[in-house]
Amino acid sequence: MRRENIPDLSKFVEPDRVRREVYTDAGIFELEMERIHEKHWIYCGHETQVPKPGDYYQVQIGRQPMLMVRGKDGRVHVLYNRCPHRGNMMCGDRHGNTGEFFRCSYHAWTFQHSGKLRSIPMMESGYAGTRLNKDSPELSMKPAARVESYRGFVFASLAKDGPDLKTFLGKSIVAFDDMCDRAPEGEVEVVPNCFRVIQHSNWKLFMENQIDALHPSVTHQSTGRAAHEVEKQIAKKTKKGEAPLSYHMLSAFATVTIDKWDNFQTINYPYGHCILTGYMGLRPQDPDTLAYDKIMIKKYGQKRFDEIIGVNIHHVLVYPGLSVQSPLQQLRAVRPLGVDRTLTEIWHFRLKGAPEAIYRRSLAYYNLVNSPATLINADDLENFWKCHQGLASDGGDWVNFARHHGHDIEKPGEVSSAPNQGTSEAPMRNQMKAWAKYMSEQAA
Ligand code: FES
Ligand SMILES: [Fe+2]
Repeated sequence: MRRENIPDLSKFVEPDRVRREVYTDAGIFELEMERIHEKHWIYCGHETQVPKPGDYYQVQIGRQPMLMVRGKDGRVHVLYNRCPHRGNMMCGDRHGNTGEFFRCSYHAWTFQHSGKLRSIPMMESGYAGTRLNKDSPELSMKPAARVESYRGFVFASLAKDGPDLKTFLGKSIVAFDDMCDRAPEGEVEVVPNCFRVIQHSNWKLFMENQIDALHPSVTHQSTGRAAHEVEKQIAKKTKKGEAPLSYHMLSAFATVTIDKWDNFQTINYPYGHCILTGYMGLRPQDPDTLAYDKIMIKKYGQKRFDEIIGVNIHHVLVYPGLSVQSPLQQLRAVRPLGVDRTLTEIWHFRLKGAPEAIYRRSLAYYNLVNSPATLINADDLENFWKCHQGLASDGGDWVNFARHHGHDIEKPGEVSSAPNQGTSEAPMRNQMKAWAKYMSEQAA
């Protein structure tokens, strides 16, 4: 659909259903990039991805190729990855170190880490008598309009106006507090590099799925059952009758049956954010856990430790582009590439000061549940692709989000699913409500 032909988008979103074009129309996708991804706060990366001056990482914000770079003064900048001379991308590699300054590979214009122009070859003779003004911002690499960081997690907005990061995050900020508070040193550090997966479907399908409590015991049932069979066989052969914890990470998809997911709860917030409660029960009383507990109690005291460990979170969705699994120190950043193509970056982190065994446990979950190598991820990817194919067909006009509609509990600033209605489609309704609001506002 051509942009000028896009009809009134408010008619595309009803409280309990959404028109299929919202997922499939290329014109609507372009508007989403302008009004959502290139305007609101998008996660760039963690400060520990760029520890040294000159370290940079490429990051896609909406349609814009950007660079997150560490300056000599320790500040993290986010710049458009574009040379102001003739438009060459400044950095072709995904990440690296620029050295003392950026140097364009085409004609050797150089720039400070802040993006400010530093030098142009033979500048005096080359530009004598021209209108070039080396102090013009046009000749520096353009920075993101706003950059803010919270507990090491760097966000950028390409619009100069809008709520600050903390206001925007609201209660979803717990994602970063929960992750960092679990570290004896109160900080996490990124494990270098991530998994990257491109799914052939619209970005919103991924965001909806992240807090869709109805799907795990259906979509991942076969994977869970297979793991459970092996888990039982191994358990039989051991003295204690227990299989390694990693089997539980997968078998839970079969043993936590569909009715049990109703015990979870979703809490939905302004801007489209959402928390799915329900911890995975990965706190056995084994020696590794007890050693970690001891370090934490020594650091924080019993009372604060109990509070930290008692945070009841499964996932936090930070709309429009981030899904955080804070108790297991991992997150997925969503980078829309086209109306039917979406990149997800799957990152994980170390708790600073925690024993290696605790890291290994999170790594096992990362590999077994969130990586492209696992059947769990493949199960979801198949659904995403099939959903997109179905939505692109003429088989129906609407996507239905009516489950438990009208039963949600509304309080100022939040909408929760009702008790025993954890499989409510309240998070999808909340996301689309936020989407409609974003889309009704003009681009920056
Ligand atoms: S395009 Fe970068 S120096 Fe010419
Ligand atoms: Fe899933």
